[in-house]
Amino acid sequence: MSPAALSPTDPTVRRLKGSPLIGNTWEFKQDRLSLFSRTYQDCGDLGVYRIAGDDFHLANSVELVHEILIRKGRLFEKTDRFRAFARPLLGDGLLTATNEDHKHNRRMIQPRFHNAAVKPSADIAARVAATVSGRWSDGDVVDVRREMVRLILGVVGQNLFSRDILDDADELGNALTDAIHGFDSMASALVPLTIKWPTPANLRYRRAIERLERTFYSILADRRAADRRPDDWLNLLMETRHEDGSPIGDKQIRDEALNMFMPGHETTATGLAWSLHLLAGHPDVYERLTDEVDGVLGGRPPALDDLPRLPYALQVFKEAMRLYPPVYMFTRQATEDVDILGHRLPAGATVVFSPYALHRRADYFPDPGRFDPDRFSPEREARIPRHAYLPFGAGHRVCIGNHHALLNGHVVLAALAQRVRLHSVPGPPPAEEPMVTLRPGGGIPMRVERRTFPAPAAAGGGAPERRARPDGGATGSPACPWSGAQG
Ligand code: HEM
Repeated sequence: MSPAALSPTDPTVRRLKGSPLIGNTWEFKQDRLSLFSRTYQDCGDLGVYRIAGDDFHLANSVELVHEILIRKGRLFEKTDRFRAFARPLLGDGLLTATNEDHKHNRRMIQPRFHNAAVKPSADIAARVAATVSGRWSDGDVVDVRREMVRLILGVVGQNLFSRDILDDADELGNALTDAIHGFDSMASALVPLTIKWPTPANLRYRRAIERLERTFYSILADRRAADRRPDDWLNLLMETRHEDGSPIGDKQIRDEALNMFMPGHETTATGLAWSLHLLAGHPDVYERLTDEVDGVLGGRPPALDDLPRLPYALQVFKEAMRLYPPVYMFTRQATEDVDILGHRLPAGATVVFSPYALHRRADYFPDPGRFDPDRFSPEREARIPRHAYLPFGAGHRVCIGNHHALLNGHVVLAALAQRVRLHSVPGPPPAEEPMVTLRPGGGIPMRVERRTFPAPAAAGGGAPERRARPDGGATGSPACPWSGAQG
C-alpha cells in the first residue's frame, strides 16, 4: 500500500497514511517529531496528517515559508486553538494578537525594543552566567537544562524588570514557573482544552495566573511611585505611546511584558542546554570554542565589543538551534480560501511549520544529522537557502526577541566555556521531549570541571592556562550581528 494517498478534498495534496479511526493521533502523541519527518518524506513539501478528526497541513519548504508567512502572511492568523490556551496567560500581547491589532502594536513597540540597550544586555548575560556557574564546584553533577532555565530567567528578569529572580524565594519567579507548567500542559494536549473547566490542573493554572498578575501589578505600582526608573524593558513599555500620544494601559503593559518574559526565557535556555550537550559530545568543537574564548578574553568576562572576535561561539549556538530548534513547530490558520503554489488551502485550514523538519532537509543542510558549527561560518551561512533556517519564524510575526536571544546565547556560551568544561555522564542520551519547546526530557546531567586561570599578567587581563591554537578563530566575522556600534 502506498504510504500516502491523495487528499479527498484537494487532489494536489498528499495525506499521510494513518488509522481509519484516529488518523495519526497516536503517532503525534508518541513521537510528533518523527511524524513531521515522515509527513515530509511520504507526502512531499505540503502534506496532511490527521489528529483527533482535524486535518493539519505540514508546510516544509522554503517556497512555502515564503508564500504563507511572508507573501500572503496577512491571510493567515494564529490558530483559534493557540489563542484559546495562550490568551489566559498572554492576554492580547504580540504573540496572541489578531493580525489587525498586531500591526498597530508591533509598530508601536518594535522600534523602541530594537533600540533597547544591547550593551547592558550583554553585560547582564555575562554577569549572570558567572554567578550561576560560580555556584558549581569541580566534580559536581548539575542538570544543565535546569541551570540554563535559571540562568536565562535571571537574565530576562534583569532585562525586563531590573530584578534579581535568581533567588528561589522570588515570588515573581515562582509564580511564573507555576504558570508555565499550566501553559505547557494546555499547549501539549491532543484535543483543545479550555481553562474554564474546573479540573484540578486548570484550577492550579488559574491560581498561578492570578498570583502572577498580583505580583506583576504590584511591581508596576512600585515603579510608578519610584522617583527614578531603571532603563529596562518594563520602562520601555510604560513609555510606549499610541499614535495619538496616549500611553498604553496597564493591561496592555501586563500582556506585552508577559509576552516578552514567557517566550523569552524557556526558548533561549533550551537552546543553550542542547548546545552544552552537543559540545560535550564533540570534543574537537569544544576545544575550538575554548581556544577562541581563551585567545580573545583571557580571564576577563566577555563584553559586547568582544563578540565580533568570538564568531565560533555564535556558530555553535546557531547550529545547536538548527538540530534542536527550541520552537520546533508553530501554526497558522487560513482566514479565507488561499491558493498557494498550485494548492488550495480552504478557509480555516491549519498550516503547521516545523523548524525541526525543515532544518533536517538534506537538500538545505547536507548531512543534516551532523553537528557542524561551520555551517554558520560567514561564507557557508551565506549559501544556506533563505528561510531554510527558521528558529525565529519569518514574516510580520517573526520573533521580536531574535537579536536578544542570539546575543544572550553568544555571551553565555562564551562565559561558560571560559569558566568550566562540562562533561556528559554515563547513561542514555537525553530524549527529545517536544512540549512548548523542544526540551531534553529528564534534563541533562553533566559533570563540572572548573577551568583555572593564572593571575592576571602585568599587561592586563589574565592569560589562559592552556594556550590558544594559532588558528583559534579569533578574527572578526562580518556575519556577527554585534559588529558595529550597538550601544
Ligand atoms: C532562542 C530563543 C527564541 C526562540 C527560538 C524564539 C522563537 C520564536 C518564534 C518561532 C516566534 C514566531 C512564532 C510564530 O510565528 O507563530 C517567536 C515570536 C515571538 N517571540 Fe521569540 N524566540 C526566542 C526568544 C525570544 C525572546 C528573548 C523574546 C523577548 C522579547 C521573545 C519574544 C517573542 C515575541 C513577543 C514573539 C511574538 C512576535 C510577534 O508576533 O510579533 N522571543 N519567537
